[in-house]
Amino acid sequence: MSSTPLKIAVLVSGSGSNLQVMIDAMQAGTLPIQIIGVISNREDAYAVTRATTANIPTAVLSYTASGKRMSIATFEKHALEQIRAWSPDLVVLAGFMRVLSAEFIHAVPCAMINLHPSLLPDYKGLDTHARVLRSGDRYHGCSVHLVTPELDAGQVLTQAWLAVNASDTAASLAGRVQKLEHQLVPHTLSLIAKGVLNLEQVQAGQVGGFVPLPYRLWLD
Ligand code: GRF
Repeated sequence: MSSTPLKIAVLVSGSGSNLQVMIDAMQAGTLPIQIIGVISNREDAYAVTRATTANIPTAVLSYTASGKRMSIATFEKHALEQIRAWSPDLVVLAGFMRVLSAEFIHAVPCAMINLHPSLLPDYKGLDTHARVLRSGDRYHGCSVHLVTPELDAGQVLTQAWLAVNASDTAASLAGRVQKLEHQLVPHTLSLIAKGVLNLEQVQAGQVGGFVPLPYRLWLD
């Protein structure tokens, strides 16, 4: 394991259960990561409570000083300043629910990855569980992919799969996929932190090695 932890900034909008998994792994020393900051676009996100409880520097970028809800452009301006100041090795979007501009994505000074609740390239966007059920798919899961300007379309790095049951509802699938996410996120960060997954090479299109991406896991 590398002696220098992977410095991570996390962007969140919601409950932050995946952030909590990262915090727990960092605190337990089971992953060589340091969460150096959390940015939320919502002041009411429970993820903010999780971050502050863990004494992680947290920036809530939801309202301007004059009390107006921030536009995405204003959010991105402040978020970029904050990310540059923290200088992370990696930005993780963990339940971050706004679409980021190409300008922002290109300006972020390190690789950025996103967690998505489907087996990409299937079911980009929202309501993935209901759409999987409507299509009658036998398999579902979650993916971690590189963030590029096209929504949910960057190179898929890792995936965790499950078999859809006849009794599954959108709610049960959401719960089952979330359990997979809680295993896929630390697994992916471990691959990146240990250099097994070299994101600079992936970004440059030189994946190399024997294992074609994505790494597929059956974690159910
Ligand atoms: C996850 O389902 C993730 O796939 C999606 O948002 C959800 C975040 O959950 N992008 P949490 O905030 O980590 O609990």
